[in-house]
Amino acid sequence: MQQHTYPLEAWCIRETSFDTASHFLDETLFALGNGYIGLRGTGEEGYSGPAGTSLDGTYLNGFYESEPIQYPEAAYGLAKVNQFMLNVPNAKGIELRLGDERFDLLTGTVQSYERVLDFRTGLLTRTVEWTSPQGRSVRVRSRRMVSFENKHLFAIAFDVTSLNYDGPLWLVSALDGAVKNQEAGDDPRVGSAISGPTLHMIDSEQSDSFSALVQKTHNSGFTLISATETALSVPATAVTAQQGQRLTQAWEMQVSAGQSVTLTKYGSYFSSRDYDAKELMWRSKDTLATAKAAGFDELRLAQEQYLADFWQQADVQIAGDDALQQGMHFNQFHLLQSVGRDGRTNISAKGVTGEGYEGHYFWDTEIYIFPFFLYSKPEIARKLLEYRYAGLPKARERARQMSHDKGALYPWRTIAGDECSAYFPAGTAQYHINADIAYSIKTYMEATDDQEYLVKAGAEIVMETARIWTGIGSYDREGRFCINQVTGPDEYTALVNNNYYTNAMAQMHLNFAASIAEQLQAQAPSEFARIAAAMALDAGEPAEWRRAASLMNLPYDTALQIHAQDDSFLSKKVWDFANTPKENYPLLLNYHPMVIYRHQVCKQADVVLALLLLSDQFTLEDKRRDFDYYEAVTTHDSSLSSCIFSIIAAEVGYQDKAYDYFMETARLDLDDTHGNTHYGVHTAAMAGTWMGVAYGFAGMRVIGGALHFAPTLPKQWQHYTFKVHFRSALMEVHVEPGRVEYRLLQGEALNFTHGGEAIALTLSQPKQSRSFA
Ligand code: BGC
Repeated sequence: MQQHTYPLEAWCIRETSFDTASHFLDETLFALGNGYIGLRGTGEEGYSGPAGTSLDGTYLNGFYESEPIQYPEAAYGLAKVNQFMLNVPNAKGIELRLGDERFDLLTGTVQSYERVLDFRTGLLTRTVEWTSPQGRSVRVRSRRMVSFENKHLFAIAFDVTSLNYDGPLWLVSALDGAVKNQEAGDDPRVGSAISGPTLHMIDSEQSDSFSALVQKTHNSGFTLISATETALSVPATAVTAQQGQRLTQAWEMQVSAGQSVTLTKYGSYFSSRDYDAKELMWRSKDTLATAKAAGFDELRLAQEQYLADFWQQADVQIAGDDALQQGMHFNQFHLLQSVGRDGRTNISAKGVTGEGYEGHYFWDTEIYIFPFFLYSKPEIARKLLEYRYAGLPKARERARQMSHDKGALYPWRTIAGDECSAYFPAGTAQYHINADIAYSIKTYMEATDDQEYLVKAGAEIVMETARIWTGIGSYDREGRFCINQVTGPDEYTALVNNNYYTNAMAQMHLNFAASIAEQLQAQAPSEFARIAAAMALDAGEPAEWRRAASLMNLPYDTALQIHAQDDSFLSKKVWDFANTPKENYPLLLNYHPMVIYRHQVCKQADVVLALLLLSDQFTLEDKRRDFDYYEAVTTHDSSLSSCIFSIIAAEVGYQDKAYDYFMETARLDLDDTHGNTHYGVHTAAMAGTWMGVAYGFAGMRVIGGALHFAPTLPKQWQHYTFKVHFRSALMEVHVEPGRVEYRLLQGEALNFTHGGEAIALTLSQPKQSRSFA
């Protein structure tokens, strides 16, 4: 897909020409969201360009339809039902007509065009001067926002100024329910297999300014009310109309050159996933009436305030590299736009910007995205964990289906908690999801010491999921604890024995579960008794977890002196990279899975990811050797890969590689380097950028609950600054040539190490500087 080059600005992306060739991609990049509603960047007037150059989508995080998965050859225990995020009614539509001509950028002449997505105001502003085929000129400025304060609300201010035209002008506000999802075709990463409409109308309501569509999904049984409220800046009489599932209000007015008119439109979505169906209509009306009474400017100011607070806690500054600075802010902003924060929703692989991966939540959340929120906005991190607790009953159910008589197995991909992976070798087989979730709880506890969460939810999740390891693992003849027939993070290698990452993470998980049991038994015995009773925990289980952990088989190749990705990986033939043409990447679109599985070739970081997550278990030499080996066989076909390679490269002293891999991650969507951003942004890679700065260049690690830094400065940068929430404190880390300054911004004290030296920031000494080589 062709793309624009945006000027390198720190706080926005700006497009200065309208182009059908990049349109599909721009719809993603200029998408707005608030963790619930997602509006792709399509213009209010719609789009009449060639097929395949647009997807005018609107999404609601966690709102889904379900459908049976059709397997030509069924087998016991395969995931039965898919859930997919729906394209819901388009409520942002505004048509403009000048006499008999319709405002459409693909007709007439675009005299000037600018579209800006501003990360500090949260506004998407488009200013266009356009002349119709018959020579009528207007200036249109639209400002759009999706409220961070109220997850159900968005607003648009649509200003029209006649430049030379005297005559009748029509403004039409549309609420269009006749929408459908995109079809996936052959690319498994694109979307759902469903075609045709998925929502059916059961009712509608309309007045001069208000429209509402009441629809239901067929299978998941949800009711959805999509509604709009409007205000016009000049007196005019509305003409309402309904065509099928499309409701409109139209206003006719006479304009003359120089005159302006503004249509302000408020939109809302309420579904029975959140509320009783009977409440949806009054809630919609109430929200829209309140928004209208406040007016666009008040909503805009609230949005700005919310973002000011966010940036105050989360801003990462990179001086001396405008491209990276822009990529960084763009990624942080999109993460905030994508993340569910109600405890019932999570963050999908593509956020709410597109249908790629069907709105599913993966391990991407815990291993890639969670750290960004944990250290920047910990209250959101907690909500992500609450979502997993809500999914525990389904994870228990899934464990039973998978023949585990106890414990819980989280789904590889899901919306509402059911396993939705239709291809089990790269889906259900990734049992590491359980350890990934436990790892995020461990990191959360180390950073927050939120004992209330541990007792209420965390302990139960960690212990229930730990049981799966003793369920699937077994001791071999040498007495080693082995985990067979699983898939690790690298999806180019499937169904193997003793995947290093899985085993090492399971070891961490089992030990963590046992220490939670021991800690609660000693410190909160009645809470422990309650949890143990709820999960029918045998008194001997924690000891069993410890034993399995201590005897865990962690494959190591003594000849190569590297950790083996699994028992068979190193005996396979190395992929013939030299004779693989560039256009054959990603391999998954050009080779049968078996062909790939037979070779030493990785889609993404696997052992190398373990080097980061379990950092203290490896020497620097180990890390360097593992990095060298696996780098040579990794394609980075997954967008989850380059950030991890960047971090380990920085740690082992490969500064140029660290920078190059970081660059790939930081602008992955802005530069569309994976060629599929039109289907949605890559939220894991976006958060990987944050990790690249904190874990990579600044060497941040939390080991045994203690915070460490070992900063470096890429030679391309003048300085960089980021912030970290840790144990009720907020600190700023500012790195410049040879020197780093640590500053306490909030809280009373913070202890950490700098290159091994202990430092304490206190109220009386809130700032300390150190040098580094
Ligand atoms: C990666 C997975 C990831 C998924 C969703 C796949 O391409 O291999 O690790 O969870 O995308 O982002």
